Amino acid sequence: MTLAFTDSCTLTKPYSFAQKQTCKKLNISRNAKLFAMPNSFLSGLRVSVDSGWRGTVERPKPVAFAFQLQMNFAPGPRYKVAVLGCTGSVGQRFIQLLEDHPWFEVVAIGASSRSAGQRYSQACRWKQATPLPNYVRDMEIRECKASQFPDVDIVFSGLSNQVAGDIEEEFAAAGKAVFSNAKNHRMDPDVPILIPAVNASHTGLIDYQRLKRGWDKGFIVTNANCSTTAMCLGLKPILDRFGIEALIVTTMQAISGAGYPGLPSMDIIDNVVPFIGGEEPKMESESLKIFGQLDTEKIIPASIKVSAMCNRVHVLDGHTECVSLKLKTRATPDEIIHAIDHFPSFTRSLKLPSSPERDVIYTDWIDRPQPRLDRHTGNGFTVTVGRVRECSVLDMKLVLFGHNTIIGAAGGSIINAELCVSKGIIAQRAKGGAYAVSHK
Ligand SMILES: NC(=O)c1ccc[n+]([C@@H]2O[C@H](COP(=O)([O-])OP(=O)(O)OC[C@H]3O[C@@H](n4cnc5c(N)ncnc54)[C@H](OP(=O)(O)O)[C@@H]3O)[C@@H](O)[C@H]2O)c1
Repeated sequence: MTLAFTDSCTLTKPYSFAQKQTCKKLNISRNAKLFAMPNSFLSGLRVSVDSGWRGTVERPKPVAFAFQLQMNFAPGPRYKVAVLGCTGSVGQRFIQLLEDHPWFEVVAIGASSRSAGQRYSQACRWKQATPLPNYVRDMEIRECKASQFPDVDIVFSGLSNQVAGDIEEEFAAAGKAVFSNAKNHRMDPDVPILIPAVNASHTGLIDYQRLKRGWDKGFIVTNANCSTTAMCLGLKPILDRFGIEALIVTTMQAISGAGYPGLPSMDIIDNVVPFIGGEEPKMESESLKIFGQLDTEKIIPASIKVSAMCNRVHVLDGHTECVSLKLKTRATPDEIIHAIDHFPSFTRSLKLPSSPERDVIYTDWIDRPQPRLDRHTGNGFTVTVGRVRECSVLDMKLVLFGHNTIIGAAGGSIINAELCVSKGIIAQRAKGGAYAVSHK
């Protein structure tokens, strides 16, 4: 059976909808229904449903008959999901981004035993700029044990590194698709570090992971460390077009990257801290895996020399990164900008619900990207590159920026899960408790 969130088709002959009827002929998914006015004759109409369950109809020219058409697509059952680490910086962002998500419904939340048993509004110190969503206000926080989450298919993890490793493994072994933000499993050879616009093919590791670990339905996919995600997305158009031999990156990372409550105010106000524990080695190793090639049972890392210097700065959200590059093929700044401007919008082409219009954009403002002005580009899912110019030591230098808790964390996990759904990788609990894996 096709799970077709984004199907479209063209009617090939006049087709009358004298009455309301399920639109089987169109192969539009699940509960989608097409309603038309009586005696409407529809020929050559292109009918499509987008990822947010909005229907559109295009009519050919010339129009043979006048018609009135009403479409009403009722969304099918959404995947039941849980957010672990729901009280933290990343967890709160999940709760915010998943409100009214067309494919995912948060039915359960988990955190430490300190928070378990409390209502979300009691346990969580909500720090997002939008109101605490009603759907979660009275939801009871559970302890992060897989046995307490029999009702979910997908688990989004914003768990702290100290506990994420074992808990995420337990959930995957219990049949859940786990999308992790923690570092613990990132460098496991059978676990992909996924950024759909960069390395969507790395989902190919999931079958092997299941086989190797004896998991029939569950699996773990991680996203990268937040500064690595911004860097890999921002550099991908350049890597594809010119190749990269070496790079030096200096980051200016936001406070929210350290979780909540994060650094004491006395340490960060009026200050820059030139040390973030473990961050530099993570940028240097994860980026090579992300840019690497899938080889059935592992990723062969890219051979690029990467040197990272990481700093915490007095900014709330969003990481800014200055990068110098040694290219494999020489290029002018204009050619680099052209490569970024023409980088295909991969996630949009798949019509994933969270996809921004562009995964990476170039800004020609001389003094940007800046956190305050660019963190909301593409709702936080777009990486912005600016200030491309020649470098007198290496070949080229630029500045890039990405939102650390959206594309760099919760948003990145959500789009990873959307990619896995669209590829038919995730099992969904059907009514009656049986699982049906969808194929596309
Ligand atoms: N912040 C970012 O920008 C960012 C970006 C990428 C990746 N990450 C990674 O994402 C993860 C979460 O980061 P964060 O910044 O959101 O951290 P955080 O604000 O410190 O939140 C940690 C969460 O883990 C929960 N937790 C702690 N101990 C637990 C236990 N023993 N059992 C179950 N839950 C427990 C906490 O629940 P309680 O409230 O009950 O203690 C809280 O919900 C980390 O692995 C981090 O490295 C963060």
